[in-house]
Amino acid sequence: MDMNLAGRRILVTGGSRGIGAAAVRLLAALGARVAFTYLSGRDAAEALVREVPGALALQGDQRLREDARRVVSEVERAFGGLDAFVGNAGLWQPTPAVLEGEEVLEAVLEVNLRGLFRWHAEVIPALRRAGGGSILLISSTAGQRGEAGYGAYAAAKGGVISLVKSLAVELGPWGIRVNGVAPGWVDTDMAAPALRADPAERARIAAAFPLGRIPGPGDLAGPVAFLLSDWAQAVTGEILNVNGGTVLCG
Ligand SMILES: NC(=O)c1ccc[n+]([C@@H]2O[C@H](COP(=O)([O-])OP(=O)(O)OC[C@H]3O[C@@H](n4cnc5c(N)ncnc54)[C@H](OP(=O)(O)O)[C@@H]3O)[C@@H](O)[C@H]2O)c1
Repeated sequence: MDMNLAGRRILVTGGSRGIGAAAVRLLAALGARVAFTYLSGRDAAEALVREVPGALALQGDQRLREDARRVVSEVERAFGGLDAFVGNAGLWQPTPAVLEGEEVLEAVLEVNLRGLFRWHAEVIPALRRAGGGSILLISSTAGQRGEAGYGAYAAAKGGVISLVKSLAVELGPWGIRVNGVAPGWVDTDMAAPALRADPAERARIAAAFPLGRIPGPGDLAGPVAFLLSDWAQAVTGEILNVNGGTVLCG
């Protein structure tokens, strides 16, 4: 048994940039056949396919069941089946406590939580057709300890943690493991407003890391690969914290 993912057929949502793209690169390097979705970043998706030969880029909105149906069926047609799903696509936007309108609230809940239910409705039957498999959802430290000014995001990511634990019990009898990864700050486009706009703010955030540096997307790829691999074959319902120790200090 090893970390080799040879022949494993994996679908990653939001794989065109950031953590998703880093996961696509590593999973493919470990031998998996990887499909990934993007929302509007077609150029980035095509560039990643050129970089990772054999990867399959598919446009698909994590909010929409009809997109899930089309994407899952394209993956099954191209790869002959689906063994693992990584629900990674996400949206981080502020929702102040005194809400001024519901558009952002809806957008954040739709992408980060409700859409996962719609994708699972298509993914789970596919995993069962393959004889079992694995689901991995990307949560956040925000879902564990809350995030001031980002209540909807934190609530959605806390919901993801509860969803992981619920599905792990529900799907275990079908040989489907369900786990989560909870990153803290990761230096991607999503965190750019905090990490890239103001050097002083970046330094303040970096100072909270016992390891002395802010993780990059590549730091998340290994934990994702581990949880999808046979090394984690008895791990289900778990949330793996990949936060550089910041929660210990916060
Ligand atoms: N970065 C952090 O500090 C951090 C911390 C904790 C948790 N996380 C979580 O980690 C995950 C990945 O974050 P990231 O930092 O890599 O984000 P990112 O750099 O903003 O990339 C987001 C990815 O998701 C895709 N996407 C966005 N909305 C989508 C939708 N409705 N349907 C399909 N794809 C969609 C984007 O596609 P396009 O390129 O087409 O726009 C892109 O590929 C998210 O769930 C996020 O909440 C991130």
